[in-house]
Amino acid sequence: MTSTSHATNEIPDFPMARDARCPFDPPPALYDQREQGPMTRVRLWDGSTPWLITGYAEQRAVLGDPRVSADLSRPGYPATVPLPPGGVKRSFIGMDDPEHARLRRMVTAPFAIKRIEAMRPAVQKIVDGLIDDLLAGPNPVDLVQAFALPVPSLVICELLGVPYTDHDFFQDTSKTIINRTSTPEQRQAGHQALHAYLDDLVGQKLTDPGDDLLSGLVERVKAGELSRQEAARMGALMLIAGHETTANMIALGTLALLQHPDQLALLRDGDDPKLVASAVEELLRYLNIVHNGRLRVATEDIEVAGQIVRAGEGLIMANEMGNRDPEAFSDPDRLDLRRDARRHVAFGFGVHQCLGQPLARMELQVVYGTLYRRVPTLKLATGLDQVPFKFDGMVYGVHELPVTW
Ligand code: HEM
Repeated sequence: MTSTSHATNEIPDFPMARDARCPFDPPPALYDQREQGPMTRVRLWDGSTPWLITGYAEQRAVLGDPRVSADLSRPGYPATVPLPPGGVKRSFIGMDDPEHARLRRMVTAPFAIKRIEAMRPAVQKIVDGLIDDLLAGPNPVDLVQAFALPVPSLVICELLGVPYTDHDFFQDTSKTIINRTSTPEQRQAGHQALHAYLDDLVGQKLTDPGDDLLSGLVERVKAGELSRQEAARMGALMLIAGHETTANMIALGTLALLQHPDQLALLRDGDDPKLVASAVEELLRYLNIVHNGRLRVATEDIEVAGQIVRAGEGLIMANEMGNRDPEAFSDPDRLDLRRDARRHVAFGFGVHQCLGQPLARMELQVVYGTLYRRVPTLKLATGLDQVPFKFDGMVYGVHELPVTW
């Protein structure tokens, strides 16, 4: 067991952006790092040199270890972008247990599989309606604006009790928050605007509650179990996480399928819900859109893959590499909708594993099971090299997807 120390000048920069030559794969520099072993060091923008974990088993071991923290205000936390001077107050995604568990428990019931399954017919209706509009509207069209963004935005608005008419505001604000090229001040302003918006909604629901998730949180505020500020922060987290991620999976997933016609044909020409479900898992694994690492800091000395990680050292779990680890998935760089990819780490792992995954899965199953069957001649209306990929995004995807049929 050794604690490796590299000379600073040997440590490569942490690659944040994917490569235009292989836009569906992790950055080539991450494959180079993996050649050195499942745990290496990388350098961040501030000169710090956290551990980079590329191995699937090692990532799960760290993410499942209670001796790591997700609190970005802790010294040593590997912030991959500069933080604003006062820091950012995140909801339970940036907290540790028991505080994290206290808040998360308040919102687990609405995301339980049974509750989400009950929403499937309503989601199918939304998807069918948007496809009707798509087919009746201009051709070619940008699939992101016409379909990929509205589906999850309509669904999360309904679930939370947020008016969909405000979608331009929350979609634009989310974009700023998760764009790597935003300044710390712009990101801070985005967080504040979203918080103020949710706080306003919580205020309205205090006097005029509805049958939605935010109203449920308001009940807890009234009971003194939750502060109004905590409720607004949780609402903001779920609103951002609930639309942007799934929207990117819809658009980027469609593009990946269009580039793999044999795989697209399986969905377009078949009618097997099991295949659709496995396609969702495989596309989550293959694309791993929430990239740039799950970020943690060790709170005690821990041993990972024979290395000692000291208390206060940062850890970056590159899930896109964990999902391409040949030890975990055979021929991992191949998109294969028939494989069993359910063990992927695209939703993270451990206590912070995605709360909304039953919802995301159900939405994607409805979309992938419907869109290509109803629009069988769907194709890209431009060259792949013209597609604006989100090389600047902490959530990966495409800014636009011009399609025709
Ligand atoms: C395809 C879509 C999605 C992907 C790929 C995704 C991915 C992730 C990942 C990787 C994490 C772990 C973060 C970490 O460990 O630091 C996470 C957490 C989270 N996600 Fe998702 N997500 C998706 C959809 C959703 C949806 C629809 C919601 C609905 C509200 C949601 C809500 C959350 C929340 C609240 C957390 C924080 C959980 C915690 O800290 O306990 N996500 N997600």
